[in-house]
Amino acid sequence: MRLQRIAGRCAAVLTALHLAWAATSSAAQPIASIQERFAACMTCHGEGGRSTQALTPSLAGQHSFYAITQLFLFREGRRGNPAMSAVAKGMSDDDLRGFSDFIAKLPPPLPPTDATIDAQRMARGVTLVQQNRCASCHGADFSGGKQVPRLAHQREDYLTQTLAEFRAGKRVGYTSAMNDALSGIPPEAIPDLAYYLAHLPKAAP
Ligand code: HEC
Ligand code: HEC
Repeated sequence: MRLQRIAGRCAAVLTALHLAWAATSSAAQPIASIQERFAACMTCHGEGGRSTQALTPSLAGQHSFYAITQLFLFREGRRGNPAMSAVAKGMSDDDLRGFSDFIAKLPPPLPPTDATIDAQRMARGVTLVQQNRCASCHGADFSGGKQVPRLAHQREDYLTQTLAEFRAGKRVGYTSAMNDALSGIPPEAIPDLAYYLAHLPKAAP
């Protein structure tokens, strides 16, 4: 009888302990930090957010305000890209803010070192950006700011594609600034624009 009572009490204590352990273990489970979760982004956007993957932009050094706007547009399905819409779909507003602030602090991409610069394409690129006043919004060194993205040393293939999409009205911006900026540029000039921005010398004119 006495033994039974002790055994019963032991079982009760064990159950309580188990419940307490389960509660603390789930409460103590650390929520993965933005830095840890950024590992999944790097599978496409590259180590440190410097992309080596075709048609995938570098994120490093992109401005927080611009990045959060784009994540918002992907989440709401207004900027169409199946991969990014799937990534952004489950994000809370805090996630959007966390990833954007994190991206902004990463050191921006460097100019490509392996390429022999095609001086004629660079010259055509300079003329195009001057004629179309691209620097008036993106900055003289194309480092952007706030809602205007950094363009310097972005991947050339991505720039070519996204500029063509803006021009064709397929990429919808937060405002129509870019659709307007490109309306006077013939489609065949876009590759030179992208080439110039991707290969900018360190101190751009
Ligand atoms: C499966 C590949 C993939 C993964 C994983 C991925 N991205 Fe992307 N991301 C892309 C592609 C491709 C684009 C360009 C889409 C386009 O062309 O419109 C992009 C675009 C973006 C942009 C807009 C950049 C710009 O310059 O306009 C942001 C911001 C971004 N991704 C953030 C993230 C974050 C944060 C994560 C992780 C939570 C992530 N991405 C994970 C493929 C991916
Ligand atoms: C009136 C201001 C303004 C002018 C002029 C302008 N831009 Fe933009 N640009 C923006 C803004 C704002 C965005 C962000 C678009 C959005 O809301 O999604 C942008 C986005 C871009 C992007 C997308 C970058 C990325 O990471 O996806 C490229 C590329 C670009 N601009 C290139 C150019 C070029 C080249 C010119 C000149 C022909 C130009 N811009 C002129 C304001 C401007």
